[in-house]
Amino acid sequence: MLLSLFMFPKSASTFASQVDHLYAFLVVMSLVISLGIAGTVAMFAIRYRRRSEDQVSEDIHGSLALEIIWSAIPFAIAMFIFYWAAGIFFTMSRPPDNAMEIFVVGKQWMWKIQHMEGRREINTLHVPVGRAVKLTMTSEDVIHSFYVPAFRVKGDVVPGRYNTMWFEATKTGSYHLFCAEYCGTEHSRMIGQVVVMEPAAYQRWLTDETPASRAGQAAGIAPAERGAQVFEEQACATCHIDEPGGIGPKLSGAYGEMIELDSGEKVKFDDAYIRESILDPTAKMAMDFPPLMPVFAGKIGEEDIMALIAYIKSLPSDSAAEGQAQQEQTK
Ligand code: CUA
Repeated sequence: MLLSLFMFPKSASTFASQVDHLYAFLVVMSLVISLGIAGTVAMFAIRYRRRSEDQVSEDIHGSLALEIIWSAIPFAIAMFIFYWAAGIFFTMSRPPDNAMEIFVVGKQWMWKIQHMEGRREINTLHVPVGRAVKLTMTSEDVIHSFYVPAFRVKGDVVPGRYNTMWFEATKTGSYHLFCAEYCGTEHSRMIGQVVVMEPAAYQRWLTDETPASRAGQAAGIAPAERGAQVFEEQACATCHIDEPGGIGPKLSGAYGEMIELDSGEKVKFDDAYIRESILDPTAKMAMDFPPLMPVFAGKIGEEDIMALIAYIKSLPSDSAAEGQAQQEQTK
């Protein structure tokens, strides 16, 4: 489309054309309406001008038909835009189940990226082309915003909660990454690159053994492994034993399930729930467990919490053991 030549930034994700078409429609619609109104004003000014000194204007009463038309047409246009945009919004806010996950932690003034295979990077995000990528994002300090214009995605990165965002890159290359939320003195320098690679090249990059990456290898273990270390360091296994009957709830197989709280409410055992329960265990107590878990707020960093989540997610869900437990219950 001609507009895209001068109106839009580079496009390199499956969202780009969807967003651009909608945006182009809005611009064209605004042009048509603005020009239509301006043209009509000019035309009326000429056509209905005063033609003699003693001309008196006609006495005009309202027109119901006209009022219905000029209400109904804009309403229809607005609803059409709403329907179209909401469709794109829903697509963007629901990551596909097979999306690969990457953790993003924003802090003044850098982006810390953690790949599930262990590689970490700062201010650069490497992703494979043609694969859905889901970012789980949080901040260590203030609100930042992760913005990749070429992908047409932008998401707030908020302290104290997880926001997710996803995209699928369609073209290899290097694209701008911006912080799009004023976050202090060096906000404008909180920038970076998203590098889109062929899948094979990405796999090589993940396991790259360059001296530089080897130097960072001490910190370069997979989040699930790091999570297992933290789990051990903090002695979580004392209460969260891997069978029913521990002081704390059993964690394997819990991820993604609905669990019952002592208030009778049900919540999903997801990233946000795990994070909250680590930092403030009594906020949402699981049914039938005593409030004995220590508070970890201030004792454990965002990256270690993400590692713990990755670890808990990696625990096998042994449905066999669950079946057995149920049998015993029914006896
Ligand atoms: Cu971070 Cu602006």
